Parts: sequence; structure tokens; C-alpha cells
Amino acid sequence: MAQFQTLIVEAPESAPGVTLIRLNRPEALNALNTALLGELAQALAAAQADDSVGCIVLTGSAKAFAAGADIKEMSDKTYAQMFKADFFTAGARAIEQCRKPIIAAVAGYALGGGCELAMMCDFILAADTAKFGQPEINLGVAPGIGGTQRLTRFVGKSKAMDMILTGRMMGAEEAERSGLVSRIFPADSLVDETLAIAAKIAGQSPLAVAMNKELVEAAYETTLTTGVALERRLFHSLFAFEDQKEGMTAFVEKRKPLFKGA
Ligand code: CAA
Repeated sequence: MAQFQTLIVEAPESAPGVTLIRLNRPEALNALNTALLGELAQALAAAQADDSVGCIVLTGSAKAFAAGADIKEMSDKTYAQMFKADFFTAGARAIEQCRKPIIAAVAGYALGGGCELAMMCDFILAADTAKFGQPEINLGVAPGIGGTQRLTRFVGKSKAMDMILTGRMMGAEEAERSGLVSRIFPADSLVDETLAIAAKIAGQSPLAVAMNKELVEAAYETTLTTGVALERRLFHSLFAFEDQKEGMTAFVEKRKPLFKGA
């Protein structure tokens, strides 16, 4: 595994087929800076290129998933510098473009860019200690990597306005109730539970996983008619793969399928 300054990347033995990426800037509560986002893009590209990886888990520490974009790095920037560097766009694109599923396992603070990073993942599992928020208003700015758009799609306009205009935090239970989070676990078992879920996904046909991910993503971008038409096409196309034959034959023969990604 490659060595990074701001990340710890592992292939846990307990979770075959899973890459675990841990944000690791404890001195700044995992605040997202240019170095971290660059390394995250590299780690995701490596996981994408590795056929033995079927699912990625992104997590932080017990105290913070990530407390936002790095305010100290940004504070003196000019408009020209932000625009020229296209600040944070590269890191965000790496997540948006990854074709393998990414699960965010969030404990503690997921604020600002940290909440946005979690929302870019395919789904969010939370510890009971998780706190989500978009506090950029307190800094005189706005969310900059998708918060106003994604939070609104997750929790609806009223709650998104409330969160973004007041900068308040939302606990794990409110986040689950609002549809931001898919499940909550006790903080000390969050990573193990997430790895078990990721390993289950990694054991499926990678072709079917990629197509299912693409289809759910399409639900955000298209009309119902177009989305359903795309689903029908991809559903039919899955019958071109050996994995479909294996999956259905294994069901009939009452055994576990062995998917080959072919
Ligand atoms: N950027 C840089 N450093 C940060 C940081 C951030 N977003 N969040 C925390 N830190 C640093 C603190 O400065 C502190 O460093 P020092 O020890 O050197 O002073 C260290 O992490 C520990 O933080 P605190 O002492 O503040 O810890 P706390 O437990 O008292 O408070 C907290 C925790 C409520 C999360 C608080 O740190 C906080 O409010 N952080 C900022 C949250 C925020 O505003 N995020 C939005 C950033 S803007 C953004 O994200 C824009 C975008 O959309 C792209």
C-alpha cells in the first residue's frame, strides 16, 4: 500500500476486497487541505485501478470525520488564487468520478467540507456521536464543494435552509430521520460494522455493483422516464455477463455464487 502524509490506507484482512481510507490530520480535526485532497485523489485512483478492490470505506477519527475545509489554508487567499487553483475541485472530482462504491463512516464532526465530502460518497453510516453541519455562514462564506445542492437533495429545502443559514449542527438521529444517513452504529463498532457491509458489497459482481451505482446516481440527474428507460437498458445488458448466469444458477442450485467480474 502507498504511504501518504495525510491518509492511512489499508486493506483490512477482516474485509476482503475493501480499501479502508482514514483521513489523518489529527492536529486539525482532519480539515481538508490541498495536500489531503490530492492524496485522496491518488488513493481513490489506486483503488479504482485495482481489480481486487470492490468497495472503499472513507473514515476519520473518533472525534472528527473532518471539521471542514482548512480555514488556515484558505483565510488569506484572494479571489484570483481561489479561481486559478479551482480550489478543492480536483479532490471533489476524484470522488464523483470513482466508479466503485464509497461508503462514508462518520464519527464526530462532519462539518463544512467534511459534511460535503461525506455527502459525495455513495452512502453514509454514522456513529451515534456524529454531528453534521454546514457552518460556513459563521465564516462569512458559503459551502463550496456541493453542500447547498447535496444537503438540500438529502434533507429537503426547509431543513437545508435551517442548517445552512444558522450553521447549526445535526446529530446522528436527526440525520438518519432526515435521510442524510442510512444507519447508525455505536461509535466503537462503526468501522467494523462498515467494513462488514463493504465486504458484502465487494463480494457481489463488480459489474452489477457498478451498474447499480450508476443507476441510483442517474436518479438524481434525470427525469423519471429517462431514468427508468436507462434502468431497463442496463438491466437487459447485465444478461451479457457471466456473473448473471452464475448468480441465477447458484440460486437454483442453492449455493453461494462465485462472481468473476466477467
Ligand atoms: N480548518 C483548520 N483548522 C481547524 C479546522 C478547520 N476547519 N477545524 C479545527 N481546526 C483546528 C483548530 O484550529 C485547532 O487547532 P490548534 O490546536 O492549532 O488551535 C484544532 O483543529 C482543534 O480544534 P478546536 O480546538 O477548535 O477543537 P474543539 O473541540 O474546541 O472544536 C470544532 C471543534 C467545533 C469542530 C471547531 O474546531 C470548529 O468549529 N471548526 C471549524 C468548523 C468549520 O467552520 N468548518 C467549515 C470550514 S469552511 C468550509 O468547509 C468551506 C467549504 O465548504 C469548502
